[in-house]
Amino acid sequence: MFDLLVKPSPAQKSFLEAVRAGMENYFATDRRRIDHALQVCRYARDLLTYIEADTVLTLTAAYLHDIGIHEAERKHGSSAGNWQELEGPPVAMALLSQLGAEDDLIEKVAEIVGNHHTPGAVDSPEFRILWDADALVNFAGGFATKTDGQIEAILHRHMVTEAGFRMARKRFLADQERQER
Ligand SMILES: [Fe+2]
Repeated sequence: MFDLLVKPSPAQKSFLEAVRAGMENYFATDRRRIDHALQVCRYARDLLTYIEADTVLTLTAAYLHDIGIHEAERKHGSSAGNWQELEGPPVAMALLSQLGAEDDLIEKVAEIVGNHHTPGAVDSPEFRILWDADALVNFAGGFATKTDGQIEAILHRHMVTEAGFRMARKRFLADQERQER
């Protein structure tokens, strides 16, 4: 199969491992958030096989995209997207600088984390991949009472990569095969 994923080098791999561990440490006993980040990261990796993008930036952003949620809840009593966007970047930046990440990566991750609830806020393939990977996880379970037509309309409106849209159709449309024929 045609595969656009640029495999991380051994050094990049261990950096990504450290980011994952840092995220897990930070969320501590909050298993739900850890699992969510890991699932989003898995979809992001799948999307990287279809979309040309920076592997390290995409996966780092996927691990850390919701990292502001605890501070949002603590300071503002809410996990609403705008509070997460405000509180996430400082936490992500601190974690990444502790790991010795380069400034350029830290800045770009912070930009994605700080905008990940705002449609089209960052014009980059890494942002679009995170957007669709997050949607692939978040839509799961939310479509139980919807018809295929309604689901299709939501996906049309929401998904921002062709690969993400196709993946979502495959995952969420009951009669997807019939429609493809
Ligand atoms: Fe998320």
